[in-house]
Amino acid sequence: MSSELKTLSQTMLAALNEEMRSVLQSGEEQPDSFYGMIHYHMGWVNEQLQPVQVYPGKQIRPLLCLLTCQAAGGDWQQALPAAAAIEILHNFSLVHDDIEDASPTRRGRQTMWQIWGIEQAINTGDAMFALAHLAMSRLLDCGVPAPIVVQALRRFDETCVRLTQGQHADMDFEKRDGVTVAEYMAMIEGKTAVLVSLAAELGARIAGAEETAVAHYAQFGLELGLAFQVKDDILGIWGDEALTGKSAATDITTKKKTLPVLYGLEHSAELRQLYTQNSTDENFVSQAIQHLDTCGARAFTESKASAYSEGSFDHLQAAQPHGAAALALHELTNMLLQRNS
Ligand code: IPE
Ligand code: IPE
Ligand code: MG
Ligand code: MG
Repeated sequence: MSSELKTLSQTMLAALNEEMRSVLQSGEEQPDSFYGMIHYHMGWVNEQLQPVQVYPGKQIRPLLCLLTCQAAGGDWQQALPAAAAIEILHNFSLVHDDIEDASPTRRGRQTMWQIWGIEQAINTGDAMFALAHLAMSRLLDCGVPAPIVVQALRRFDETCVRLTQGQHADMDFEKRDGVTVAEYMAMIEGKTAVLVSLAAELGARIAGAEETAVAHYAQFGLELGLAFQVKDDILGIWGDEALTGKSAATDITTKKKTLPVLYGLEHSAELRQLYTQNSTDENFVSQAIQHLDTCGARAFTESKASAYSEGSFDHLQAAQPHGAAALALHELTNMLLQRNS
């Protein structure tokens, strides 16, 4: 990691975590079981609701928001409420996503629904969704002009709708044959890329950047988000569970139409035949991976991730970022493509 990214991310993420704790606090010294479930997901308490410090996730969306704000000439501290809101919204989406995908593990721990059941996990996700909106309203307390706050709130809500639309398509595809790459791209744009894009867009808006620069930052985030999700698809099949903290089998057992699988279904008659089976046991998973390996699905998917990442660099350059934050944004984009977790 370059010294720019390391130094900036340490300072920014410390402030982000303070902001998120302030938004998600219960008001009591010891959180009750309602706040306790939220704090469990954030990595602040264990299953018994005792304080712990565990891995909170990569926090790339808030980091992007804060770095973009600084690179666009703003004061990153003013963007803290937006960065916190985006990370809380992301965490809400994961709580519900783990129910939707039947995922038993996240960030190396049991998912919320595995411990407290589906009903309570849905309810906690709903609370986190509302708390994310409350986090946004704190922009006013940071001196961000009211018209920018209103516009940011509108973009935040539009993004929530697109995200849930993407999740709808993702689940719909599990039961459908003949999903095209174009449909897949629209789906991942919704479920993942629009929130990454919003992070960069809001950073630039809060900095007071010109519309042309805002549009380039938004497109930079969008293409980075697409590359990020394509990479997530690779890790979802070939990733090391010890590093990703997520089960490597569930994308296959739930018959997710991820990009490697779509490529495989088109290029491997064996995989097509296998996917007609109803049962998806361990044997199914190992056979599916073998067919994907044989037809070159991984190399194809890696090349797609690289292409989107190049596109994102072009927009970053066109946005004309400055200073140490510009170097940090470059470094972060490169790191996300090379990541293994
Ligand atoms: C996981 O996002 C869900 C996707 C959109 C791929 P991250 O990979 O950013 O998850 P954390 O927050 O680092 O755990
Ligand atoms: C990511 O979904 C998108 C959202 C959570 C909105 P995935 O299902 O692809 O992500 P992981 O692999 O579970 O993190
Ligand atoms: Mg999902
Ligand atoms: Mg999932």
